[in-house]
Amino acid sequence: MELITARLTLREFVDADAPFILTLLNQPSFLRFIGDKKVRTVDDARRYITTGPIASYQRHGFGLYLVELKDGKVPIGMCGVLERESLPDPDLGFAFLPEYWGQGYAFEAASAVLKEARDTFKLTRILAITNPDNDASIKLLAKLGFQLERVMKLSSDSDEVKLFSLMFEPS
Ligand SMILES: CC(C)(COP(=O)(O)OP(=O)(O)OC[C@H]1O[C@@H](n2cnc3c(N)ncnc32)[C@H](O)[C@@H]1OP(=O)(O)O)[C@@H](O)C(=O)NCCC(=O)NCCS
Repeated sequence: MELITARLTLREFVDADAPFILTLLNQPSFLRFIGDKKVRTVDDARRYITTGPIASYQRHGFGLYLVELKDGKVPIGMCGVLERESLPDPDLGFAFLPEYWGQGYAFEAASAVLKEARDTFKLTRILAITNPDNDASIKLLAKLGFQLERVMKLSSDSDEVKLFSLMFEPS
């Protein structure tokens, strides 16, 4: 599986991506806006890849993909579709290293993931959740066509999130 855009390649995660995952999941922005996955070592990162993205490809077909620059195969972030018990439909997820923000990479990657979700996985609706203060993410979701549904909690003891949705036009 590979999604190719003008500047990027998106592909399934493999074991060898563990050092990159360790870096990405410990970015202050990731810890603040997504949460602490308690990935502190390369071994933790390997476990995360196996029980997170790889388990999701096997169970649902989709999952978070590694995003790399075509130029030099530099890993810059992750983007993909997640399935969680706490939401009625799959949701879009994304996180990029800060040095690659502000260049339209997240928009380019997410557009390819949404196209695959509609055309290959035949989803009719996709959700997204953000921390209410995550302005960069909310701006990106608006550019992708998502609309705010409501503020909600994923579980009774968790913080509030904003829930967005996007209906796919029939292709
Ligand atoms: C959320 C996140 C992915 C957004 O990244 P981003 O780089 O701001 O998003 P985009 O790809 O849409 O880039 C938009 C910016 O690139 C600029 N840009 C430059 N070249 C561009 C191009 N060729 N095409 C489109 N936009 C371009 C836009 O003008 C815009 O700049 P602005 O924010 O100053 O208006 C990023 O902030 C992130 O990884 N945050 C941490 C993790 C996180 O919060 N994830 C979301 C959890 S819900």
